Amino acid sequence: MTYLAPNHQAPITLSTLAKYKKVGEKFSCLTCYEASFAHLMGQAGIDTILVGDSLGMVVQGQSSTLPVTVADMVYHTQNVARANSHALIMTDLPFMSYATLTDAVANARAVMQAGANVVKIEGGSELAEIVQVLANNGVPTCVHLGLTPQSVNVFGGYKVQGKTDAQAEKLLKDCEILVNAGASMILLECVPASLAKTVTEKFAVPVIGIGAGADTDGQVLVMHDMLGVYTRKPAKFVKDFLKDDGNETGDILGAFVNYHNSVKNGSFPSIEHTF
Ligand code: KIV
Repeated sequence: MTYLAPNHQAPITLSTLAKYKKVGEKFSCLTCYEASFAHLMGQAGIDTILVGDSLGMVVQGQSSTLPVTVADMVYHTQNVARANSHALIMTDLPFMSYATLTDAVANARAVMQAGANVVKIEGGSELAEIVQVLANNGVPTCVHLGLTPQSVNVFGGYKVQGKTDAQAEKLLKDCEILVNAGASMILLECVPASLAKTVTEKFAVPVIGIGAGADTDGQVLVMHDMLGVYTRKPAKFVKDFLKDDGNETGDILGAFVNYHNSVKNGSFPSIEHTF
């Protein structure tokens, strides 16, 4: 197993991801919530880190992401940003923290000042004004569509989205409106691979997938999932990189390197992880 350069590689920026997209180079993303793992991810060369509100489930033991607060996101973003100067850091705005434009601006400011480079928000065309105002104020957004966990009570569970023609059409329209409003990235969760491929080919911004097939520009997994630390049954798209594929030593840095290389060379996700 080859260990890549330590945590002093050039910082990954949105321009880096744009260049990757142009030449067809994939990028890796993992969730991270604290300094030690952020440091290891820097050593492994992970391109982007998501300080996800999934921390509500994997760190706090909540049954959904809904209880997570802006203060939680600020705290965990600070911990990650102190320990990793390589990855582009994306931070979730948590449930109901961007329901009004005023809240969106104040809370985006808080997480950007904590060290985020990009703010991630869940939803469709209804976010257009927020995306535009944030872009005008120097805050890049990643818009999260498909299965949006903050809306679990609307969906009635964590289910694959975009399966019907009407749903797929709506998702494409939402992406178009949000990209036109100034969204810098798109994240697609649990959508059919064919729909994710269409989105990736149609829009110039980088598209990250989780449970969205192999054709998106980048891939993201929740760190605990890819280390096989499950508190619930893992989803179809999860792979345990600590156990699988030649990580004979079972070391965490090795798992991060293995994941990074598997995303870069296109071997993850495979068909068994795809809807
Ligand atoms: O919060 C999170 O970790 C996420 C990923 C599941 C994409 O949004």
